[in-house]
Amino acid sequence: MKRTHHCNELRPAHIGQTVTLTGWVHSRRDLGGLIFIDVRDREGRTQTVFDPSDLPPELFKRAEQLRSEWVVGITGKVRQRPAGTNNAKIPTGEVEVMTTALEVLNTAEVLPFPVDDPEVSNKVNEELRLKYRYLDLRRPEIARNLRLRSKVATAARVFFDEQGFLEVETPILFKSTPEGAREFLVPNRREPGTFYALPQSPQQFKQILMVAGVEKYYQLARCFRDEDQRADRQLEFTQVDIEMSFIEREDIYALIEGLLKRVWKVALNVDIPTPFKRLTFEEALNRFGIDKPDTRFGMELVDFTEEFRASTFKVFSGAVANGGVVKALNAKGMAGATQGQVETMTEYAKSFGAKGLAFIKVEKGADGATVEWKSPIVKFFNDTEKAALTSKLKIEEGDLILFAADQWLNACEILGKIRLYCADILKGQGKLNVPADQFNFLWVIEFPLLGFDREQNRWYSSHHPFTAPVTEDIPLLKTDPKKVRGQHYDIVVNGVELGGGSIRIHQPAVQKTVFEEVLQIAPEETQLRFGYMLDAFKYGAPPHGGIALGFDRLMAILCNTPSIRDVIAFPKTAKGTCLMTDSPSTVEPKQLRDLHIELKVKQPLATPAPKA
Ligand code: AMO
Ligand code: AMP
Repeated sequence: MKRTHHCNELRPAHIGQTVTLTGWVHSRRDLGGLIFIDVRDREGRTQTVFDPSDLPPELFKRAEQLRSEWVVGITGKVRQRPAGTNNAKIPTGEVEVMTTALEVLNTAEVLPFPVDDPEVSNKVNEELRLKYRYLDLRRPEIARNLRLRSKVATAARVFFDEQGFLEVETPILFKSTPEGAREFLVPNRREPGTFYALPQSPQQFKQILMVAGVEKYYQLARCFRDEDQRADRQLEFTQVDIEMSFIEREDIYALIEGLLKRVWKVALNVDIPTPFKRLTFEEALNRFGIDKPDTRFGMELVDFTEEFRASTFKVFSGAVANGGVVKALNAKGMAGATQGQVETMTEYAKSFGAKGLAFIKVEKGADGATVEWKSPIVKFFNDTEKAALTSKLKIEEGDLILFAADQWLNACEILGKIRLYCADILKGQGKLNVPADQFNFLWVIEFPLLGFDREQNRWYSSHHPFTAPVTEDIPLLKTDPKKVRGQHYDIVVNGVELGGGSIRIHQPAVQKTVFEEVLQIAPEETQLRFGYMLDAFKYGAPPHGGIALGFDRLMAILCNTPSIRDVIAFPKTAKGTCLMTDSPSTVEPKQLRDLHIELKVKQPLATPAPKA
């Protein structure tokens, strides 16, 4: 049986035609002696009807045996559904197919969870869904994500092609380089004790491609990072990876704005306004306490360093005397938080290094007319301090004011976390409206080139060691590294870091200074790890720069889902396992011998292969 139409195609215009549909039995209902089978394929579903008065008994009998997810071919005549039985929820809902022939192409066992009812399948635990991912992927809600992903990838490729980019594949078997996350190593059978590493990104190859004269490179690149898993992180993920020669930061901004404009139009038919807003790293931290702010709501951080410099409240004035700052935010509508809730919030802040979380609850006073500030610390505040708080935080009844007094970065980051925490609570209570269909894109720019790792007592690259310093800051590299700004930019939407990139260092001498003098990588180590790159740069490296967007994160936003697992065909669990194939798994002793690997631990007992 060969299909004449797909299952989302038939409309009143087809009435009277004889058609053949193929697909899965999505649902089955027996009503008034008739059997109704919804046949589903990739495109959608169509109702078919088996009427015993019209059919040979043998055919009707076979229809009675049909069960969920059997694979069938059905031929019949399209007719208008009887009055009152239209299904407005599906595009084929005005018609049905009166079956004349049925072929069972395959049977199916009873499914471990239903795929025809989102209400039920959304409650099925994710582990079961991942173990039977092929069934999960049949669910229209997930299947839709895969299709959109393919559509967006194609749109991006077309866009890059129009702009004159070459798609170049770079190796997956790469070498170990001490940058960023932990790597996955692959033992080399040919030379015992040597390893490949899987790339964390194509960063070094794409820069080498610029030396090679490619000028405009892109790739939908698979990247591997052995990091802790979260809703927005996978061990392997995909980047829309880009590099260009003879460009400046503005060229990257314009390119990405064009790309995202195209993608949003193709995927959601939404016109996003460009150019995007820009925020410096410093302003993002000062106002939102994070370098990837969700600007769909306010609750901004306000600085009170000057107001509390001479305060009698030593927690505040002491922090300022130590070179720190005092910051506060107003969680409007949260004055009703209980003692327990405030304590939980304080513990949460402490888990990020806060020394405490001073607060003021602004409630109706005992007289019912005035407002009262309920807080153990208000007794320390004088009238000027109170007036400053009232005006700068626009304090009203019902507010909860929260404070952090600490070094600048800590104070900002603590309140940044608290801001998001409060926003979640307020959203849950319906007091804060954060529209899911609003997209606040912004560039975060002027990151510091370096951060300081107190434990290891050395500088590290905020982005990666190939990022160029802002030209006029280059002399500061050797004298005051803290002040050096990087030509690094992040693209952020609704609090998600969608991508990041930079203009690169293309002068081998500057690169060597960064490796050896700033990052304190020994010259031999630099040579061993990056020697090939420094060599390549000696032979006419053009000025260049690029960016990488997290494709899975991009898709999660477009699909309006909180987890990137929902937009990846075969994702790994939080523990980094694939429940469907049961990987990672043990290997045969012979394989280990061939690889010159001896285990110091006993291999765990192999778990039985999943049922076929
Ligand atoms: P970066 O490390 O910032 O830059 O990565 C770029 C983007 O990739 C996405 N991303 C991830 N997505 C899912 N799971 C992960 N574990 C994960 N890690 C990162 C994020 C991030 O913004 N080579 C540079 C880019 C450049 O400089 O051109 C790079 O990889 O969305
Ligand atoms: P204490 O004087 O330590 O009892 O603190 C008084 C209040 O200030 C408590 O609510 C603490 O949680 C809070 N607090 C203490 N240290 C800080 C700080 N560095 N930043 C903000 N609040 C703090």
